[in-house]
Parts: sequence; C-alpha cells; structure tokens
Amino acid sequence: MYEQVSHSLLNEILSDLKPDIKSENLRHFYTRLGANFYSIYSLFHLLYGERDDFKQQSQRLVETMARQYMLRPDEYKQKDIEREKDHTWFLSQQWTGMALYSDGFAGDLKNLKAKAGYFQDLGVNMVHVMPIMKCPTDHSDGGYAVSDFREVDDRMGSMEDIDELANELRKRDILLTLDVVLNHTSNEHEWAQKASQGDEKYQDYYYVFSNREVPDMFEETMPEIFPDTAPGNFTWIEDMDKWVMTVFKNYQWDLNYSNPAVFIEMMDIILFWANRGADIVRLDAVAFLWKKIGSTCQNEREAHLLLQLMKDCCQVTAPGVLFIAEAIVAPVEVARYFGEDAINAKECEIAYNATLMALLWDAVATKSTKLLNQGIKSLPDKLERATWLNYIRCHDDIGLGFDDKDILLAGYDPIPHRRFLIDYFTGEFNHSSARGRPFGHNAKTGDARISGSLASLAGLEAALDNGDPDEIDDAIKIIILLHGMIMSFGGIPLLYYGDEIGTTNDYRYVEDERKSGDTRWMHRPAFDWDKAELRNKPNTVENRIFQALKKMISVRKEVAAFADFNNRELRDSGNPHLFAFCRVNHQHVSDRVLVVGNFDAHPQHMELDDLKETGVIQHSQLYDLYSGEKPAMFKDALVIPPYRFYWLQAR
Ligand code: GLC
Ligand code: GLC
Repeated sequence: MYEQVSHSLLNEILSDLKPDIKSENLRHFYTRLGANFYSIYSLFHLLYGERDDFKQQSQRLVETMARQYMLRPDEYKQKDIEREKDHTWFLSQQWTGMALYSDGFAGDLKNLKAKAGYFQDLGVNMVHVMPIMKCPTDHSDGGYAVSDFREVDDRMGSMEDIDELANELRKRDILLTLDVVLNHTSNEHEWAQKASQGDEKYQDYYYVFSNREVPDMFEETMPEIFPDTAPGNFTWIEDMDKWVMTVFKNYQWDLNYSNPAVFIEMMDIILFWANRGADIVRLDAVAFLWKKIGSTCQNEREAHLLLQLMKDCCQVTAPGVLFIAEAIVAPVEVARYFGEDAINAKECEIAYNATLMALLWDAVATKSTKLLNQGIKSLPDKLERATWLNYIRCHDDIGLGFDDKDILLAGYDPIPHRRFLIDYFTGEFNHSSARGRPFGHNAKTGDARISGSLASLAGLEAALDNGDPDEIDDAIKIIILLHGMIMSFGGIPLLYYGDEIGTTNDYRYVEDERKSGDTRWMHRPAFDWDKAELRNKPNTVENRIFQALKKMISVRKEVAAFADFNNRELRDSGNPHLFAFCRVNHQHVSDRVLVVGNFDAHPQHMELDDLKETGVIQHSQLYDLYSGEKPAMFKDALVIPPYRFYWLQAR
C-alpha cells in the first residue's frame, strides 16, 4: 500500500514540476529518483507525515534535488557515474587524508591552492578543509558557527577561490572534503536574525520557548557540551524575549529538524557544496540532530532517519559524494551512523573512529594495551560499504569516550582510571612528559577532556625543552608508532596538519580574547612553513617525522591487505604491551600482514607459535614492510623494540 501511495505521489510531483525543470535532460536524475523514491517517501513520511502540508513539502524536496541536479557540473556528473560503477572505491588503501584550516595552514584559500604540492610530497590525497563559510569575527567556534552557508568567509577568500582549489586538487587526484555544519547556525545567520526580530516562520527554524518550562524539562536529561564556557543548553534572547536552544556555545542556535523546511534548506546546502566540488561532505555533530524531552538529545532514532533521508536524496542528485559522520559518541552508537539493517552504508559511508583514537592515547599513558585490546574487541562490525576515519589528533579535544565496562574488563576502576589519564596528559601525574591542558571541565560531574597537540602530548615538547636526545627519540618513536597504527588498522588515516613536522602547542591563543577561554586553540596552530622546510634537512625532528610518515603512506598504498574490507583479525599476543592484528587481503586470503605495535619503553616479545596456525606466517621469512628489514628474533619469539611497530609479511 505504502508503495502504491509513494508511486502515485511521485507521479503527481513529476507532473507538477515547473516547466524549466521538465525541459532539462534529467534522464539519470529520473532513474535515480525512481530507484530511491520509495525510501525517500517512507522516511519523509515517518518524520513529517502528520503535517497538513506534507504533499507540498515533498514536492519542494523533489524540486530542490532536481534544481541542484541541473546545476551540477557535467564533470561531476561523469564522476558520479564512474563511482556508481566502482562503488567501493573509497575502501582502497590508496587514500590518506589530512585535516586543516585554510587560514591556519596557508593563510587563505588562494595560498592553500599554491601549497597543494606539499600534500603530494607527503602522499596525502584527501584534504579536509575545515569550515570556510561565512561566520562572525568574534563568535565563530573556529568556523563552526556559520552565518551564511552559501558564502565563503572573506578571511578565507571567495567562491572563485574555492572553485580554483577544487580544480587544482582534482587535477592532482586529491579528494576535497568540506564541512556542512548541520546542527546549528550562528546567531548572526539571517534565519536567527529574523527569528530575533519576531518572524515566526524563522522562529520555527529553531527551538524557541517563551518561558523556562520546556527548557527546564530538557535540562533534566541533557548533558552539557561546553560546561565551562557555555553552561546549560538554552540562551535567553533579549530582542526576542524568548529562550532558544543552544547546545554548543550560546551563539550557536540548534536547528529544528522537526520542521521539514529546515530539512529541505539544509539538504539544498549539502547539494550546493557537492556542486562546488566537494567529493566528501563532513557532517558536523550528527548525533545531536534530533531533540526529545527526557533524553540526552543525542543518537535519537530520528537523527538516524534524517541522515538516511539525506543520503537517499544525495544519492539522487550527487551519488558520487560521500558523507563523513562526526559523531563522537559511545562505540556501540558510532557504528549506527553507517546505517542499520543494511549491508551497504545507508547513512554516512565514513565515520570518525573516536574509539580507536581515545584507546591509543590510553595505551600511550599506561604503556599497556589492555584497554586498547579490550575496547577494539567491543567495537561493533561495520557495514560492508563503510569505513573508518582513523586519527590521532584533530582540531577538537580528546574525550575519553570508551566504555566503563571495557575499563573494568581491562582491570581498572573507571573513575580513578579516567582521572589518571587526565592527570597524565595535563602533566599533573608524576613522571608524565605530556603537556596538555584540560578542556570542558565540568565542576558538577568532575569530567574533563584533553587539549594539546600530538607532539606535546607525546612528550616532544618537554623533551626538546630538556634538550635530552633520548627523550626526543622516544617522543618521535611514539608519534611514528601511533601513525603506524592508524595507517594499518583499516580505514582512511586522517593526519592533522602540523603533526607531520612535530608541531608543539601554540600558547599564544591566551593573548587573543576570542580564544583564551578555549584550550582547543593550543592545537590549532598557524602552520610554520620555515619549520616545514626542515623536513628536507637530515636528522632534524621535522625530517625524522615527516620522512617516516611519507614512507609509511607510500608503503601503505602498495599493501592490498590494508584496504578496508572488514579484514582485520585481532591477535591476542599474550603480552600486555603489544597491540597486534592481522590484515588479510580480501582477494587473496593467503596474503596477510601482521601488524604489531609495542607501547612500552622496553623491548617486548611475542610468541609466534599461535600465528603459524593461521597459516602463511613463517617466521624464518618474516620481514617488515615498513622498514624493509628482518625483525629481531629471540629463539622463536619476535622482539619488538621500545615504541616500535612492525608491518610483517612472509617473503
Ligand atoms: C563539531 C566541531 C567542533 C565544534 C562543534 C560545534 O564537533 O568539530 O569543533 O565545536 O562541532 O559545532
Ligand atoms: C563533543 C561533541 C562533539 C564536539 C566536541 C567539541 O565531543 O560530541 O561533537 O566536537 O564536543 O569539543
């Protein structure tokens, strides 16, 4: 029945389409719309079916998709078709990403284009340019408080600059990732301004309340994201004489997706950026899209329905474009952002692997891999056509987002263990060489997260200050070890700009009033190009890190077993300092790579007996793909030097 209704609605919509749309060549569009409409209709109906204007809204949605399809450049339409044929293209081990701010990295978009050669020098072929859309000068949350989704911020450049950047990257076979901040707008966005002036249409774009009654009910179950700088989830707007929901900073107004007009606007904006050349769109804070009294307002079922609907609509207009879910949530919840009840991803093809990130940092602090092994064991399987974004650092803080159950299973007590990690990384703990700072300290719950650059958290800053060559060596080894893990784990490794040359904390943020309250700015540096030049000068810190990563990326590209086809087998090495897993080439199961990392300051060994049973690994012939050397052996055991990793294969 549903199916018939959807069919006749589609026919009605198509016959009512505006003449200019009908006259276009829409062959591929119609085919894809036909294939996806039942799903689009069902989801749209589940979300908005109760409304009197459901039919008009459906009509507007289809028109929006059709108009963006008409605007889609031929070159991208061609790419869509190629990617539809080769639909697992992004699971390949060929891809390595880097995330950066265009201003922080290069000054602006023009200069970023001029620096494209740097990515090729390193081997990076996916560039995530963090928000470039117009935002207020003072209250921007690093670009994540957008005041105009269709304008490039003056400080970054212009629309032409982004077009030119997209062209340049495409010529070099580098993928472009852009952000669309879906969950909220800046209070200076036109919609928020109109709402403030009393325009009810736009008040309905947000969650607006005339008194505290409903906000208080929400507050009972909603956590605080920025408890120290933006406590509470609602802000009083004087002009409007009303409260508005502001989950993040008080100038970031949450969009109201129970209004289909908001959905359609934001869908249009996603497609707009797809048409400007984004190969991948990073969807910010997706866990927060749906709000419900009595819940944490995260990971709600409707948030998933919205994402499924966005994916289906994108599939019709720009099927070559992938989505990244930025959902920094519990491990069981994260995997749901790939989509559920489907073999192929039905929401976002790619998701941040915040679990692996936090677990790796746990291993660094404890020099033990007990929690890392346990946590990865509990990481749910992903869908077939889906992949992780594996990272060590990004522009945000590190949340200790692993499960208390896993902490217990690893043999620790959750509260003191988390406390220890915060102390360790903020340098409060005895011998810790880490130089981070707490972020988002919550006085009520005692929770905190961690800010700091990779190099400073790994001890490089302290080692350089001490001028101690051994400490410097260790910190560099830790940096390289962590990259050795994200490059082989399965998924797209995402480097963070500056980490490849050992950039330490930038403490100047405290001098800037707009940044001083937010410790995340200590790891959002202005890239130092003079320092980057040292990558070519032998034996400098920059040279050692950069060349190691460069080599790792180029070796990774040659190792088919590193492509992400759910082909990872965890190995219980019996040694609590090692993290070990096998990667199996999905086309030739005899082609295996044993990855092993030693998180301890002392050499560790691993018995290989149990590996023989998995076949193939004959240790007499083992060699390390990364260094090209034979690993050290003692009797029958593999010896892994301190903070080293191997990518082992039988010759
Ligand atoms: C995302 C961004 C973060 C920002 C938040 C609110 O999580 O990564 O930087 O503060 O969204 O937009
Ligand atoms: C929380 C949110 C995430 C955001 C971060 C910013 O972890 O879940 O979306 O990026 O806070 O600190």
